[in-house]
Amino acid sequence: MDLKEAIYTRRAVRDFTVEEIDDKTMRELIDAAIQAPSAVNQQAWSFTVVRDKALLARISREAKAYMLKTLPPGPMSHHFQQLLSNPDFDIFYHAPVLIVISSTADNPWAVEDSSLAAENLMLAARGAGLGTCWIGFAQKWLGTPEGKAALNLPSTYLPVAPLIVGHPKSPPPPVPRKEPEIHWM
Ligand SMILES: Cc1cc2nc3c(=O)[nH]c(=O)nc-3n(C[C@H](O)[C@H](O)[C@H](O)COP(=O)(O)O)c2cc1C
Repeated sequence: MDLKEAIYTRRAVRDFTVEEIDDKTMRELIDAAIQAPSAVNQQAWSFTVVRDKALLARISREAKAYMLKTLPPGPMSHHFQQLLSNPDFDIFYHAPVLIVISSTADNPWAVEDSSLAAENLMLAARGAGLGTCWIGFAQKWLGTPEGKAALNLPSTYLPVAPLIVGHPKSPPPPVPRKEPEIHWM
């Protein structure tokens, strides 16, 4: 698949087959992720691959409870509240793998570096016929001392990008883009 096709057809995937993803494939995705640019070429990222189903279920449960406690009011808060209080809702959509991209908390560009690596990983996954979705619902809890401990991350790390990866059950529908606001100067 060429780059343009991968960019234009990558979609957030939320429905997966039960097929696992082997270490070699995960390693290839991580190798694509680390081709991303990073500030001062520090490459201060780390990748945590979670396949343990009990751990995934625990993170989903804890993250939902934490989100419900800390959800700021906003246009989506009622919808989120309903979703997050549903005990059957798995924030990881039963994906076989969660990969969390973290950086060191003292990296002033932790978010930028990790996000660029995340987009590379998602495009590489698309190119390999896999589906991904960034799970922001997991982010806040993973950043707590309990969340970092669950991932065996040192307290000096900052988890930025929780991405689920799996084999899509069916092609996700297109998600139209709004006309971009562009200022030609
Ligand atoms: C920072 C960030 C957080 C997101 N968090 C979630 C999430 O918690 N759950 C979810 O289902 N999708 C999540 N998404 C996926 C977006 O909903 C999705 O990218 C958006 O609807 C556009 O669809 P597309 O990726 O298919 O183009 C997140 C995306 C980003 C970039």
